[in-house]
Amino acid sequence: MAGKIIDTPSRALSEYSIQEHILLPSHIPKDFTSDKVDLSAAIVKYNPDSKDSVLKLNIPVIGAAMQSVTGVKMAIALAKLGGLGVVFCSQPPEKEAEMIKAVKDYKAGFVVPDTVSPGTKIEEIIKLADEKGYSTFPVVESGKLVGYITKNDYHREKHKHLVAKDRMLPFDLDKEKSKVAVAFDDQISGDLHKAYGMLIESHHGSLPIVDRNGALKYVVFKKDVDEHLENPFELVDSQKRYIVGAAINTRDYKERVPLLVKAGADILFIDTSQGHTDFVKETLGYVAKEFSVPVVAGNIVTAEGFRFLVENNASAVKVGMGPGSICITQEQIGVGRGQATAIREVAEERDKYFAETGVYVPIIADGGVVIAKDISVALALGSDAVMVGRYIAGCDESPAETRVATRIVDGKLREFHEKPYWGEGSARAKAWMENRYDQMTFDEGVEATVECVGPLKIHLHQALTKIRDGIRKAGCRNMEELHKKAVLQVISEGSIKEGRAHDVDVKK
Ligand code: IMP
Repeated sequence: MAGKIIDTPSRALSEYSIQEHILLPSHIPKDFTSDKVDLSAAIVKYNPDSKDSVLKLNIPVIGAAMQSVTGVKMAIALAKLGGLGVVFCSQPPEKEAEMIKAVKDYKAGFVVPDTVSPGTKIEEIIKLADEKGYSTFPVVESGKLVGYITKNDYHREKHKHLVAKDRMLPFDLDKEKSKVAVAFDDQISGDLHKAYGMLIESHHGSLPIVDRNGALKYVVFKKDVDEHLENPFELVDSQKRYIVGAAINTRDYKERVPLLVKAGADILFIDTSQGHTDFVKETLGYVAKEFSVPVVAGNIVTAEGFRFLVENNASAVKVGMGPGSICITQEQIGVGRGQATAIREVAEERDKYFAETGVYVPIIADGGVVIAKDISVALALGSDAVMVGRYIAGCDESPAETRVATRIVDGKLREFHEKPYWGEGSARAKAWMENRYDQMTFDEGVEATVECVGPLKIHLHQALTKIRDGIRKAGCRNMEELHKKAVLQVISEGSIKEGRAHDVDVKK
């Protein structure tokens, strides 16, 4: 017989499984509106009595370290909203470091734009504008700004055979000869408010920023600055650069970590499906000895796994083995655990560890979020943040390309947009390792598609509105109260049915 057999079924997080948890309502005082729910949470261990500041998310959402989820655009979009993106490590170390650097170099509101050259045909510019969804392009020659062209400068038909130089507004360092208003980088010194003031004075929608030799540095777009000023939760470091995470593995960490730290990674995530191993222990030991960057370790699903990682220098712990939407680990090897059960056991152990040592170790629930309320449940079960893949893979900012597909709906052929979404353990993701490591013999993930859901900002805004309202209706004001006061109940299959629209024909 096995060492132990646990007879209580392992419970899943998502509504689409048979077992589930639901939050019970509690008293709400008159003045308590859902915008007052504070979702911020530390994701690095801390001692509440100490004054040291630790990395805190403003919204508890972390983008999965996956090729099909978190590239530069997604990491920036998440940080803008107050969450965190973790750039994937299933690529050569130099490539990952470049991506981290691109996030750190991206100054909120300062855009490194797509450019065209003086000889670019107007018809190519029109095509580029149609593809990109914007129509303002600096014209650059040998890195220097020579002109500026927008859709107001040409007629799509009449001018299509001309080139940029024929229609652009010319730029020259000599103000007398120039038709383009610019600002110099040493005038702005990275201060967006200053750039914004000059932009308004220029009466244009955008302002190129050049150095004293005329080399183009950035463009400041009015609509971006307006958006930046509207993002009160954005997650930035002391130099106002976006915070970003980087995934590492237990094989090439000695080569990869120095590059990532140099590129500016704020936090590292060890990316393994089974984190209760000596390989993870060695990786944690190496980073702790050589660097001061925090490391989230995982994944584990047991109290024992939690203790192991925390006692070996983990700054936070990631929970989940098998709940991922594209994950077939449990099916392939019969090892893993229902996500709700795993979070609950690890959170209990974390609380025990806190009572013993005074050190609070955040836990991150990784995988299994299907709809917004799964995030509320994962948090109420004891996690401090959730890591999501599928939930954001269909957003505009994910790296995969959008495809148009057709499907028969109500007897009619309909077109819709989708994006590919593939597991890090799928053959597609592992292809990069060719000639680098021995290939694994079987896949632990699949390739799939997800429907496009538009910009992250809108997608998450809707989710966060629901999460805040759910937490408020459960009578909690913040994560600490959610962990201490919230009451959860396991619901039956019948209860799940009753909780949805039922016994009616729902109008689409
Ligand atoms: P999702 O949010 O349910 O789609 O799950 C995302 C999580 O699944 C990731 O953060 C990883 O922990 C996990 N994951 C990613 N790729 C694979 C895979 O190929 N096999 C198993 N788990 C995976």
